[in-house]
Amino acid sequence: MKRLLVCGSNGLVGQRLALLFGHTTEYEVLHTSHHRNFQLDRQLFDYTQLDITNRSDVKSLVSSYRPDIIINAAAISSVDLCEQQRDAAWRVNVNGVEHLTVAARLIGATVIHLSTDYVFDGKHGPYREDDRVNPINYYGKTKLAGENVVLAAGIPYAILRVILLFGTGVQCKHNFATWVIENLRAGKTISCAADQISNPTYVGSVAHAILHVIERGAAGLFHVCDADRLSRYDFALKIAKAFKMDPSLIVRTHSAGLNQAAPRPLVTGFSVEKACRDFGFSPLSIDAGLEALGRDVHFVTRN
Ligand SMILES: NC(=O)c1ccc[n+]([C@@H]2O[C@H](COP(=O)([O-])OP(=O)(O)OC[C@H]3O[C@@H](n4cnc5c(N)ncnc54)[C@H](OP(=O)(O)O)[C@@H]3O)[C@@H](O)[C@H]2O)c1
Repeated sequence: MKRLLVCGSNGLVGQRLALLFGHTTEYEVLHTSHHRNFQLDRQLFDYTQLDITNRSDVKSLVSSYRPDIIINAAAISSVDLCEQQRDAAWRVNVNGVEHLTVAARLIGATVIHLSTDYVFDGKHGPYREDDRVNPINYYGKTKLAGENVVLAAGIPYAILRVILLFGTGVQCKHNFATWVIENLRAGKTISCAADQISNPTYVGSVAHAILHVIERGAAGLFHVCDADRLSRYDFALKIAKAFKMDPSLIVRTHSAGLNQAAPRPLVTGFSVEKACRDFGFSPLSIDAGLEALGRDVHFVTRN
């Protein structure tokens, strides 16, 4: 039985992985995150606290648990927070990755690491894996440095770059879709950029992609996102339609009018050919992703 160590299990992707692996008996999984407690039911999952910025804690947990695969879903993923708290962002998104790769090398484990479309400058999307990177904000810089740490470590690895994730999780920070839903439900007006264009991706697509990477033993750098490329404004309209909310509350704007702390790469999106070919990745349409989100929201509000 393969043994997996997941880092960042309290996050959007981490929680989804826990639910997905919870449905299979093929893997022994230890979930870990920065926080002392796991947001999901501790009775159902093995969980221990692990701060990936603590080199010796990482080394001792990895040496004692001896996973075959370490999945790193831990990060400071807030783009504006990374811009404002640079040291903290570097510690988690770069030094934390170093600690995991060093520990992985000691026991011969594979690392599956998550990265982002924000390693690109957004001038020429959609991007392929071999396109030139050029991050324009600090989050993107830390995520690119994290990729380079994995590449330089001399260990078996898969890096999955993903884009604008949406989904639900217990006590997870808002993602774009849940922010839109919450505001429109409250009857509040929101401004959404028509010039930020990418492929919004349902979190379940990423969790399944990671599972397929493991099942197929896929290795290398992969672009993973859902099928439709659209602006934040159009995505918000799609969300309003899917959740039967008032689209007139959505104001079309441009990035310059949003006063975001970090500049955004405007036009990204990925070609996912390599992921489809190498591990059978199957992107969802935006409508299918929002339908899945609808089922999740229904589940969360009923329970
Ligand atoms: N969300 C997106 O739209 C998006 C887009 C592109 C790429 N990505 C990438 O996808 C990955 C997963 O993102 P996500 O949205 O699931 O992130 P998230 O919801 O922000 O979760 C990240 C988790 O990392 C944990 N963490 C933070 N610092 C840590 C530390 N020092 N040690 C251990 N764990 C720590 C946090 O744990 P606690 O809650 O326990 O403190 C948090 O739950 C990240 O690599 C991110 O860069 C995300």
